[in-house]
Amino acid sequence: MKTIIEPFRIKTVEPIRLTTRDERVELLRRAHWNLFAIHADDVIIDLLTDSGTSAMSAEQWAAVMRGDESYAGSPSYYRFESAVRELMPYRHIIPTHQGRAAEAILFSIIGGPRRIVPSNTHFDTTRGNIEATGAEAVDLVIAEAHDPANRHPFKGNMDVARLEALLARSAERVPLVMLTLTNNAGGGQPVSLENVRAVAEVAHRHGKPLFIDACRFAENAWFIKCREAGQSSRPVTDIVRDVFAAADGMTMSAKKDAFANIGGWLALNDDALAAAARNRLILTEGFPTYGGLAGRDLDAIAVGLREIVDEQYLRYRVRTNEYIGEKLMALGIPIVQPVGGHAVFVDARQFLPHIPPLQYPGQALAVALYERGGIRACEIGTVMFGLRPDGTEVPAEAELVRLAMPRRVYTQSHADYVVEVFAEIVTQREQLRGFRIEQQPAQLRHFTAQFAPL
Ligand code: F0G
Repeated sequence: MKTIIEPFRIKTVEPIRLTTRDERVELLRRAHWNLFAIHADDVIIDLLTDSGTSAMSAEQWAAVMRGDESYAGSPSYYRFESAVRELMPYRHIIPTHQGRAAEAILFSIIGGPRRIVPSNTHFDTTRGNIEATGAEAVDLVIAEAHDPANRHPFKGNMDVARLEALLARSAERVPLVMLTLTNNAGGGQPVSLENVRAVAEVAHRHGKPLFIDACRFAENAWFIKCREAGQSSRPVTDIVRDVFAAADGMTMSAKKDAFANIGGWLALNDDALAAAARNRLILTEGFPTYGGLAGRDLDAIAVGLREIVDEQYLRYRVRTNEYIGEKLMALGIPIVQPVGGHAVFVDARQFLPHIPPLQYPGQALAVALYERGGIRACEIGTVMFGLRPDGTEVPAEAELVRLAMPRRVYTQSHADYVVEVFAEIVTQREQLRGFRIEQQPAQLRHFTAQFAPL
């Protein structure tokens, strides 16, 4: 059959409160047009993030009841450890309360002033945790990634020649090389197995370990299966194992490709580094067999990891975003191509050329989506990245609006509704106006800034 159905039935439902446009106009005013200040129960379709928002399965909820809350040596930990190791063959698996906690532990040990950590593109918490130690985070994604219309199949790949040049120049300053799978900050674009191996080869030749920021590893593996020569007949689990076997460690947010609402881990082979990480873990997260999580969370992750590599699920998952992307393109809405694994990224700079970057076209589109349809999305542009530490403002490299799809939460009719709201906005796009910022903090302003319409 041609229709790719949601490969699940719905057993528990959560009602959506259908607000009116007038109500939303008032809610926006009260929130100072910042969507982070809107209460989630005033949102009809919440596409703010795919992180921690997955629907858990009946098996995961059953596992929650099996969770064991012993302080040390909980069987939940051993079930978690064996589920991780089935896919990611690392000697040490260290649970944390979410992804950034694993990053903070790792970089508190190997970061520091004068250190340089290259990646394809660091996610903002990774960059933040590196920079917090005084080290420098460097993005070495391939040039094609900077062109939203370029349809390179692996637009998350690292530019291996630039990595080689960096290591030839300053290897002594580089503690490790990273790769983000998929490349969230670059549009959810995948990295090929060939690129993972090439990056590992260069890193290893210079005596450096490769670590993978693996948040969306299963979506990445599905793209490898569909797009990379010689991979189409291989099981996704084999591809996943190959990716991690090429590397020496990983950080993970279980809030993405483990279907969990909370959790993460750091995994690695190096015994000395693992011992230092466990000491840090005990200070900041908890004992190494629970690491900031309840035993029941570890059990939910263990089951989620087995479900996420299901190929019927992955086919449906990647198709849901592609489906929305195709319909937006048919409406003439510019998006980052090809559509990534977890989200559709709309190019607001191109869509609203009459709104200059410092009047925040991405914010204007995000506000319009909420006002007209109760859809919450996330500006990834000058609001998020335009404020420099000295207080001056510069336009971001791109003005994007991310529609991130929670896993197993929304159905095809929700997707059709999102497209219909865009169809209405298209007809009125010249009427959309920019914003000015009335109040903002010195850092991470997108979370709390207050706006006023122009
Ligand atoms: N790495 C990547 C690639 C991520 O996308 C995220 C989170 C993290 C690390 C940090 O994980 O949230 O568990 O601490 N991304 C979320 C998002 C917040 O909306 O893209 P965390």
